[in-house]
Amino acid sequence: MLTVVTHPLIQHKLSIMRNVTTGAKEFRELASEISMLLAYEAMRDLDVTPTPLQTPLEHGEFPMLSGKKLALVAILRAGLVMTDGITQLVPAAKVGHIGLYRDPQTLQPVAYYNKLPADIAERRVFLTDPMLATGGSASAAIRFLKDAGAQTIKLMCILAAPEGVAVVEADHPDVEIVVAAVDERLNDHGYIVPGLGDAGDRIYGTK
Ligand code: PRP
Ligand code: URA
Repeated sequence: MLTVVTHPLIQHKLSIMRNVTTGAKEFRELASEISMLLAYEAMRDLDVTPTPLQTPLEHGEFPMLSGKKLALVAILRAGLVMTDGITQLVPAAKVGHIGLYRDPQTLQPVAYYNKLPADIAERRVFLTDPMLATGGSASAAIRFLKDAGAQTIKLMCILAAPEGVAVVEADHPDVEIVVAAVDERLNDHGYIVPGLGDAGDRIYGTK
């Protein structure tokens, strides 16, 4: 299932990210803010349990998060900026890392690092990567998470191409995808058009 979060705040922030004149500091801050807003939607179905507590005025039962604990998993490098934002909302979540880069010639994902919470199988997993282009990186990361035992996975991206959405939906129909926008297409180099460029390079100023 694909959810496109069309909230005006998200769309406005995303337009600033797209702007070629936006610098790395603002780009990072916007990516982090959009990630928090996406998490608001992606975490809509978290369980809550009425929990007894004392307000300054009365004793009562009030909803507190319950159920499976959370894991945020970043696809390196660019996914890091998203988990950094989302941990401000759910500070108890554990954070995992999957190191993948896309070979510029073949566009195939190349794995170079991973570290997941030991109890990943018991956690609800939110996988983050700002860009879902061909879908190769996200699909490989989801496969890796499933092989490690993860059962409930949502993929959170800022920008997607229709091609990438189709690949993840075909490879992993059980994984919900939450994005801020789906653009027109990929260009011949596998870049999302109109897009926002290379997310990792814009976040870390490496180009
Ligand atoms: C970018 C992006 C995704 C991937 C998307 O990462 O952050 O991980 O490309 O492309 P795909 O859907 O075609 O696989 P990149 O490979 O540039 O690595 P980086 O984050 O280290 O810059
Ligand atoms: N990776 C990016 O960072 N941007 C794209 O447009 C495609 C892949």
